[in-house]
Amino acid sequence: MELQEAILKRRTVRSFSSKPVSDELLMKILEAGTWAPSHGNNQPWEFLFIGPETRSKLADEYVRFMDAGPLKNPELSEERKQGIRKFAQTFGNAPVLLAVTCRPTATDLEKYDFPLATAAAIQNIFLSAWENQIAGIWLSIGMNPNIEAIINIPAGGKIAGVLALGYPEVIPPVQPRTSAAEKFRRLP
Ligand SMILES: Cc1cc2nc3c(=O)[nH]c(=O)nc-3n(C[C@H](O)[C@H](O)[C@H](O)COP(=O)(O)O)c2cc1C
Repeated sequence: MELQEAILKRRTVRSFSSKPVSDELLMKILEAGTWAPSHGNNQPWEFLFIGPETRSKLADEYVRFMDAGPLKNPELSEERKQGIRKFAQTFGNAPVLLAVTCRPTATDLEKYDFPLATAAAIQNIFLSAWENQIAGIWLSIGMNPNIEAIINIPAGGKIAGVLALGYPEVIPPVQPRTSAAEKFRRLP
């Protein structure tokens, strides 16, 4: 698959088949993550594979978080709420759940740069995954201090993303984009 094709065709997927992802393929995809650029090549990321015990604690906290906030939104239909809740409980049955973390920062520059470099690694992971018929979703749940505690993030560290990965069951429709031309501005 051409890189441009992978970039344009990648979709966020929220439901996965039961087909496992081999360790070999997972490591190949994560290896792509390590080729992201980073300041001075400091490679601030770590890839934590979330096992069943931790996954169950994460799911409980995710459901608690959604129940306490987003699922109180009266504009959401009951069906939509049930779908969101089920996803929080199951992570779409993804066979792989990862926390991609940045190591603790010591300086303002590191605070700025570490999450950026780690985000670049995550996008590499999604593109390499897509090329290998694996899809996923990037979740923001790592912003929750209770999730940080479950994953045991050291002080000053950060979760850049919790990623659910697997062979897709359903590929959702494309989410529209604003063209680069509309986002483009020349400074004097
Ligand atoms: C930093 C980041 C955080 C995200 N967090 C969530 C999330 O918590 N829950 C969710 O359903 N999707 C999340 N997404 C996925 C976006 O909703 C998705 O990328 C966007 O709707 C565009 O769809 P596409 O990726 O299929 O093009 C996140 C994406 C990014 C980059």
